[in-house]
Amino acid sequence: MTLCRHLKSCLLLGTVMLAACSESAVDTPATDSAPTYNLTLNMTEFMAHVLEPTADGLWRSAGWVLDEVDGYYELYPTDDEGWQRVENLAATIVEAGNAMMLPGRTMPQPEWTTYSQAMSTVGLTAMQAAREQDEEAIFQAGAQLYSVCTACHQAFNPEILSRFAPGSLAD
Ligand code: HEC
Repeated sequence: MTLCRHLKSCLLLGTVMLAACSESAVDTPATDSAPTYNLTLNMTEFMAHVLEPTADGLWRSAGWVLDEVDGYYELYPTDDEGWQRVENLAATIVEAGNAMMLPGRTMPQPEWTTYSQAMSTVGLTAMQAAREQDEEAIFQAGAQLYSVCTACHQAFNPEILSRFAPGSLAD
């Protein structure tokens, strides 16, 4: 048993152990090394902490607002950095679709897969729109994303619809 006193030697020890693991894994048949997923977040937490903030960031980057105080203003990014941020959010949507289909998180109904995959597809469309800095296309992708969220909630948990209205985007 080796105890670590310094962060650096612990890291080193970890690296050596990892290396040893990966060497011995070479001879192990793939079926024995099935990955384990960390599914600590339940669906409510996944929605509230992963999906909702990401989608919200995207929606806040498309369209325009007519405000009593500030008048009319547009939400689209105005520089390359801003568009890059939108592209990053869209990429997270693509991967969130995958995360929803992990064994242990997915639902048996085929609609679950359909909506999760649709989210990834819309995410890819949004990435493309952001790369092209295309305002109309990012707006359309945002609208499509909203329909996918709503369709799945309608199918699996209709009560959410009342808590999750477009008006809530304004706050
Ligand atoms: C494949 C199905 C599916 C898709 C797609 C989906 N959701 Fe959900 N969502 C759920 C389910 C199921 C729940 C209910 C989880 C629970 O509380 O049991 C939920 C709950 C929520 C909640 C409520 C969480 C809370 O605090 O109670 C929010 C907010 C939410 N989703 C946002 C979104 C957004 C935003 C999108 C689209 C970007 C989205 N969801 C797409 C299935 C989905």
